[in-house]
Amino acid sequence: MMDSFEFNKIAGAVLSVLLFVMGLGIFSSAIFHAQQPKTPGYDLPSAEVAAAAPAAVAIVPVAQILASADPAKGAGATKAACGACHNFEQGSGSKAGPTLYGIVNRPIASAAGFAYSSSLQEKAKTDKEWSFEALNAFILNPKGYASNTKMAYGGEKNDGRRGDILAYLRSLASSPAPLLAK
Ligand code: HEC
Repeated sequence: MMDSFEFNKIAGAVLSVLLFVMGLGIFSSAIFHAQQPKTPGYDLPSAEVAAAAPAAVAIVPVAQILASADPAKGAGATKAACGACHNFEQGSGSKAGPTLYGIVNRPIASAAGFAYSSSLQEKAKTDKEWSFEALNAFILNPKGYASNTKMAYGGEKNDGRRGDILAYLRSLASSPAPLLAK
């Protein structure tokens, strides 16, 4: 038979283990306290932040570029950048590229007898004419506008210089296209 002293020792050991475990629980929850969010769920980037990002690479509207452009400066820039491949005079034919006389608002890929790339012929179906917007996009980044264009020209990234070129191209007509309202 177990005497009462023996029983007390065992009961005391069991109790103290229980107390220790409980104490550990209280102690650790005091240290590792999980923060409850005010609203349950995860924080996702808000739509506002996501929408604001592309604004940094926004293209300056062509009307704004044209408003401060100088066709006289553009004449020199255009002859230097484009003259190896394009003619500019009325009645002039194609060189490596089609003549640019009357290019503003001329139907895309329409110079008689010129073998255009399939890309530019596709653009003719959607964009129809060389509006200032289309010309601006093409001269900024020819391959960006028409992916397999035959025009081996890297593009003019500078808004001011591109504006001058556009203003000069506009002047290559008997009655230049009206400038765009800003
Ligand atoms: C290395 C030669 C080369 C240079 C430099 C070049 N082009 Fe071209 N350009 C071409 C060729 C080739 C095409 C025909 C593109 C095609 O079919 O995809 C073309 C097409 C064009 C067209 C479309 C004409 C049409 O009838 O639809 C425009 C506008 C144009 N070029 C403007 C320019 C301007 C402006 C510059 C200078 C900033 C320039 N190009 C520089 C060779 C050139």
